[in-house]
Amino acid sequence: MIGCGTVGSGVLDLLQRREEDLTRLLGRPIRVVRIVVRNPSKPRHHLASLISSGVEISGEPRRVTRDPGVELVVELAGGRDEPKTWILDAIEHGRDVVTANKATLAFHGAELFAQARAKRRCIYYEASVAAAIPIIEMLSNGLVANQMTSLSAILNGTCNYILTRMEFANLDYSAALAEAQAKGFAEADPTLDVSGGDSAHKLALLAGIVTRSHIPVESIYTEGLERITREDMEFVRQFNYSIKMLAIAKRNDQGSWELRVHPTLIPRSEILAQVRDEFNAVYMKGDAVGPMLIYGKGAGGLPTASSVVADIVRAAKGERGTPNAHMGVTPALVPIERIELRNYIRMTVLDVPGVLGRITSFFGMRHISISSIHQPEARVNQPVPVVLLTHKTSEHVVAEALRDLETARLLTRAPTRIRIEE
Ligand SMILES: NC(=O)c1ccc[n+]([C@@H]2O[C@H](COP(=O)([O-])OP(=O)(O)OC[C@H]3O[C@@H](n4cnc5c(N)ncnc54)[C@H](OP(=O)(O)O)[C@@H]3O)[C@@H](O)[C@H]2O)c1
Repeated sequence: MIGCGTVGSGVLDLLQRREEDLTRLLGRPIRVVRIVVRNPSKPRHHLASLISSGVEISGEPRRVTRDPGVELVVELAGGRDEPKTWILDAIEHGRDVVTANKATLAFHGAELFAQARAKRRCIYYEASVAAAIPIIEMLSNGLVANQMTSLSAILNGTCNYILTRMEFANLDYSAALAEAQAKGFAEADPTLDVSGGDSAHKLALLAGIVTRSHIPVESIYTEGLERITREDMEFVRQFNYSIKMLAIAKRNDQGSWELRVHPTLIPRSEILAQVRDEFNAVYMKGDAVGPMLIYGKGAGGLPTASSVVADIVRAAKGERGTPNAHMGVTPALVPIERIELRNYIRMTVLDVPGVLGRITSFFGMRHISISSIHQPEARVNQPVPVVLLTHKTSEHVVAEALRDLETARLLTRAPTRIRIEE
């Protein structure tokens, strides 16, 4: 094992708890023989029994990747570029690899999977997307007979926890983030999560399986949730929507794919609106199965370790495992500007006579059709929010209008736009 933190310790725990059953299942035991950590001199009481039984703890990944006594390398250290070199080294030396590292796979997957194929080795990566949920196994094997047509997923527990607390405890964004950090659902530096980057890494992997191709993570339109306010939550509640950070893949009739990650308004009656706290869920459609939902814990030591151990067992059984997706040509992707969606637009204006009329004609002149407009009562000459819901409109038209709005001297601060999915 390279890395023995939250997930690595969970893996050791499960291997010990399930030792008898797994040994019976496989006809031989799974033995951890070497562990690599960043700081090997740190006291690790939970590893005492392994150390006394001869397991080596070191700070040198090549002790694991190059040891002829090691059959399988389990990478649970995290990071983006360093693990790539360890995984390549392990493959080069004839080892299969299990990893939970979506960042490395999303950025270096094409090279890593190609190398694994060339060397007839396998990279197993079930734990890298939606932790406990075996979505990779499902899409790779269970649903392989389908042309998948869409996938809408909550793939980041931190974002979902923050949005749940904003919706149900009326917290503002920074209080909800602080709570997520205090409870261990968000990292000290939450940027990768709240910016949508982590969801994009995971969507790249899932879309790669579904399209049987390599999806460059940069080709996914990504927007974070940092600008969502308590005021937005109050408005959307009145309109019977929830806000979710969704990772969306949709195939059109021509076989091109929309791939995007952004905060999204969905009706409160939708099944994904019921997914709360740190939970993840994937709602997908295939041409044979129709709609399906899978739901479970998207983070945490044991939930993630459950998927890592499943991969270890697959490798030990000699299953050629998760057939990786990176064999085909990248499909045509629909640029975000060409997508048509409904929108929620919140603006702050000075409450002067005629301001609503000026706003509606501003949007009307740009052929943006408004389905409803809301303005709470306010005092004259005070800033007041105005919220519009639009009918379906091309992204490029909305983006241009929002740019013009900022220079039109109608608003007292920049508008907030959230896309709506019905
Ligand atoms: N935590 C989750 O809920 C979760 C869920 C899904 C996927 N994952 C993925 O699982 C992986 C591990 O996450 P984690 O939460 O277990 O991380 P973690 O608690 O921070 O543990 C990381 C471990 O890796 C070791 N390490 C870090 N950099 C290293 C380096 N350069 N060389 C050698 N060892 C190094 C650390 O050593 P020290 O002990 O000396 O610091 C530590 O043992 C990441 O790729 C993460 O994205 C995590």
